[in-house]
Amino acid sequence: MCGIFAYLNCNVKRERSYILQVLFNGLRRLEYRGYDSAGISIDSSSVSLPPLVFRKEGNIESLVKSVYQEVDATDLNLEESFLTHAGIAHTRWATHGEPAPRNSHPQSSGAGNEFLVVHNGVITNYEVLKQTLIRHGFSFESDTDTEVIPKLAKYVFDKSNEDSGDMAVTFSQVVLEVMRHLEGAYALIFKSRHYPNELIACKRGSPLLLGVKELREDSSKGSLFHDDKYPSQNGNPRELFLSSDANALVEHTRKVLVIEDGEVVHLKDGGVSILKFDGDKGKRGGLLSRPASVQRALSVLEMEVEQINKGNYEHYMQKEIHEQPESLTTTMRGRLIRGGTCKAKTVLLGGLKDHLKTIRRSRRIVFIGCGTSYNAALAARPILEELSGIPVTMEIASDLLDRQGPIYREDTAVFVSQSGETADTLHALEYALQNGALCVGITNTVGSVIARKTHCGVHINAGAEIGVASTKAYTSQIVVMAMLALAIGGDAISNQARREAIIDCLFDLPNKVREVLKLDQEMKDLAKLLIAEQSLLMFGRGYNYATALEGSLKVKEVALMHSEGILAGEMKHGPLALVDESLPIVVIATHDACFSKQQSVIQQLHARKGRLIVMCSRGDAAAVSLGGACSRVIEVPQVEDCLQPVVNIVPLQLLAYHLTVLRGYNVDQPRNLAKSVTTE
Ligand code: F6R
Repeated sequence: MCGIFAYLNCNVKRERSYILQVLFNGLRRLEYRGYDSAGISIDSSSVSLPPLVFRKEGNIESLVKSVYQEVDATDLNLEESFLTHAGIAHTRWATHGEPAPRNSHPQSSGAGNEFLVVHNGVITNYEVLKQTLIRHGFSFESDTDTEVIPKLAKYVFDKSNEDSGDMAVTFSQVVLEVMRHLEGAYALIFKSRHYPNELIACKRGSPLLLGVKELREDSSKGSLFHDDKYPSQNGNPRELFLSSDANALVEHTRKVLVIEDGEVVHLKDGGVSILKFDGDKGKRGGLLSRPASVQRALSVLEMEVEQINKGNYEHYMQKEIHEQPESLTTTMRGRLIRGGTCKAKTVLLGGLKDHLKTIRRSRRIVFIGCGTSYNAALAARPILEELSGIPVTMEIASDLLDRQGPIYREDTAVFVSQSGETADTLHALEYALQNGALCVGITNTVGSVIARKTHCGVHINAGAEIGVASTKAYTSQIVVMAMLALAIGGDAISNQARREAIIDCLFDLPNKVREVLKLDQEMKDLAKLLIAEQSLLMFGRGYNYATALEGSLKVKEVALMHSEGILAGEMKHGPLALVDESLPIVVIATHDACFSKQQSVIQQLHARKGRLIVMCSRGDAAAVSLGGACSRVIEVPQVEDCLQPVVNIVPLQLLAYHLTVLRGYNVDQPRNLAKSVTTE
């Protein structure tokens, strides 16, 4: 939620128009994190003038348009070039205050823009800070929690300059002092009129990366950053970027630093110094005490620019649905072993190898996640129970926290999260760690906070998922959890045939998904039939209860149509009352142990004149269609029961996609949502 971005060019001339383009493109890459409003700050023609701030409600393109309008109106010279320039940018998912320019970022310390801040996260003690600052004469213009930060920076700056006499306070000292007062989660970038051409980034909880682009090869030696040594002081040209995620960096550079909680990264003269926020300890030394400096090496992003482009598709969601054969292949690459000298079929999950024994000894496995990630875990639960023999329970992260549900030392808690930064899941992880459980992470984001805080884990390697509605991450999560079940299940003879059948099926799964994607036109036709409906029910059971939940989640979140996933076994206990000849109902009845029960469900719904759309295994159409009484039958390839949810969800993803386009809604940016939910 919210994306922050910054661009600092050093010892290389860049025109204002270029700087604006870099900032806007950065925001476009981060827009999926929030699109309620956006803003940027760039320099005026002279450092003696306040930095310029542009803010606009709506998406990035509204901001872009309004900036160019203002540029025209004010005669701001787009050709003017800067040898060094620090620009910051923000795209917002509103938490405190409606989407409006005054609530957009950068938030300012007040007239003159002495300090400007872009923020991702939530400051939980902002009310107290605000009251204190008001008592010190500050007035506030926004409803945001963020506004306290630049105002606090100004307060600290003014106060320390009064106190310290000739010893000028540095930008990082100001920020370290500000951090001491902040509670909550944040990734922050500071720009200041007092420190032109410098930026400070710091974080706690929310993600933030630094990207480094050397513009002269021989300057790449300084890959270790440490206090007081600025590798670019010799005048080498360099560009530095700060971003909430890697998507906005990869087109510029692959050399990145994943900033850690408590680090304060100071960009100055093209150099980078990292200080470690020392919490309360610093208080003893006063503002001018020297915090510890940190040495860090850059890492190399394993991401291709193509991954973050739409290619030949109109929307990211469409692209991500259609690339599932490839994303599933990548998820399994190097993890499935078949044949070779030992002829054994087995699964290798390197991230778990040192913990498998502990997991097998656990009293219980608890799956924890939100939304689609929860649904993926629900789909995988039966196979994990079957192969491991260990009880598996499900927890929606927020509900576990609300109840403070029991988590024990003997538990293995598995945290499933595409982004690896969902606040509810992260807080549940902290809770499980406190309770002593072994914590396993299943995420799609290398270096994410959930990936780093868990004891061990598996990356799903599905590639960047940019559409706000999760699609390819869902199928890859199920596959990873099926592999987890195989790994935990071990090589018990009793399970051998089942295990080998699943592994064979995994190898062929991308082909089956390729086949099911051919239903695209059929699902578009179905969408045309359903375009004006108010509601759509989906009935599933067993492995496919999760499919019903996930299919209906897709329809409601992108097509903005009410949809409910219902456990078919519960039908007679209430939902049946809804059934009439007008309400469309999808029944998932692919061939597995629940098939005959689903046939009865179809009969009973038909007896109440239900308007049925039945999904069945190829060849079963006659057995489910009640002699043509069903309005539609969707036939899908049959695979092993535990992997059938991977195949079955694809037509429902396509249905949700086409419904959305036909209804005229924004597929990739559904109303009120954002990709990474970093607030509770
Ligand atoms: C729905 C969707 C959300 C996420 C949920 C958890 O399409 O994407 O329901 O699944 O917000 O997000 P992660 O998986 O990033 O923890």
